[in-house]
Amino acid sequence: MAAIITSSDLLNSQSLGLRTLPPLSLYIHIPWCVKKCPYCDFNSHEINGDVTVLEDEYVAGLTRDLEIALPQIRGRRVVSVFFGGGTPSLFSARSIDTILTTVRALLPLEHHAEVSLEANPGTFEVQKFADFQAAGINRLSIGIQSFNPIHLQMLGRIHNNREAHRAVEIAQRNFDNVNLDLMYALPNQTLKEAHNDIKTACAFGVQHISAYHLTLEPNTLFHRYPPSLPDDDLSADIQLMIEQTLESSNYINYETSAFAQFGYKSKHNLNYWLFGDYLGIGAGAHSKISFADRIVRQMRYKQPREYLVKAALGVIVSDMLIQEQHEVSLDDRQFEFLMNALRLTGGFETRMFQKRTGLSITTIQQQLDEAERRGLMVRDHQCIMPTSTGRRFLNDLLQIFLPEKSNI
Ligand SMILES: C[S@@+](CC[C@H](N)C(=O)[O-])C[C@H]1O[C@@H](n2cnc3c(N)ncnc32)[C@H](O)[C@@H]1O
Ligand code: SF4
Repeated sequence: MAAIITSSDLLNSQSLGLRTLPPLSLYIHIPWCVKKCPYCDFNSHEINGDVTVLEDEYVAGLTRDLEIALPQIRGRRVVSVFFGGGTPSLFSARSIDTILTTVRALLPLEHHAEVSLEANPGTFEVQKFADFQAAGINRLSIGIQSFNPIHLQMLGRIHNNREAHRAVEIAQRNFDNVNLDLMYALPNQTLKEAHNDIKTACAFGVQHISAYHLTLEPNTLFHRYPPSLPDDDLSADIQLMIEQTLESSNYINYETSAFAQFGYKSKHNLNYWLFGDYLGIGAGAHSKISFADRIVRQMRYKQPREYLVKAALGVIVSDMLIQEQHEVSLDDRQFEFLMNALRLTGGFETRMFQKRTGLSITTIQQQLDEAERRGLMVRDHQCIMPTSTGRRFLNDLLQIFLPEKSNI
């Protein structure tokens, strides 16, 4: 539920036009992994030794982080919680339980809030999954990436195909909402191999599948020493095959990389894509928080050690954990909204644009006309939606809305 702004806030918000604040999600970052994968640019660090040594200190840091952040979100209900990483499943169920207990004590959590946790095969056993569920996790997202042993090895994963299968089986015994993360266009991958991966994922009948095109991110080993990847034509064929295979297995492709069975779209991710608010706690976590008169983005200290040292300081200063902070300009606000919402296959309700950005839809009238003329987008009196060409050439569509072309 969106929080109601008080009357004094409303006075200040006239220039923005925000009548209600967007729904608020909570993201909790766990920054450690057993081993750093060669393609990964997330804020994740190889643990040297035993994670339990760090766990208590980090849980205490998260508690302090949340306490310090509270004034920014006071009175607002949390619609979803997401433990991401890194590898959150490295932490004990006791730690996850402690964190969720703190969250519930400090914040009003919606009754049916989606509470997800990312888990990696090779980092949990049967009992741990049951305990995660007992702690309040109600959606598990497993980083499978591939079921092919050779690709798993090339990706530097710590699990093999047998462990991938076992992870899904254990997850399904404990959770009735399971997501599998897969990647495609992998080194030397053929169409048939990609098809086998996706068919295997479908056969489990999980509620949600995310299929990401492997990208070579700067600051990764794969970027420095690029592996041999499928060319653009093969990649496009693989993507089409994935969309068709999942559609014929009754998965709805509701966002570029997200596929859900009916009723199981990810509430947490949908809130991101519809330009909702999120408070991110933990090392390097990002936040986007709307106020009556501004929208603010923040990033917490990225290095886990630095974050923990700051969190342990005796004094409390409101921005002591914030490494970077800026206000989202009016230009950026409209572009950021579109960059997220146009990823959604069904697009967005026109009224959402003003609701989330505070800007009238007429500020982008010319660009909307151009996008429609070029066949990248369609709209009626209620909705704005990318066409299938617009989805495939999303960058071209977004280019039209780049800030220097706006009328603001
Ligand atoms: C936060 S990450 C990692 C989650 C978890 N630690 C894991 O590796 O399974 C979430 C997902 O992003 C995807 N991903 C990470 N790096 C990627 C890349 N370079 N290209 C495409 N997808 C990527 C993977 O599918 C991964 O499961
Ligand atoms: S396990 Fe996940 S978060 Fe960790 S390095 Fe690999 S891809 Fe990145």
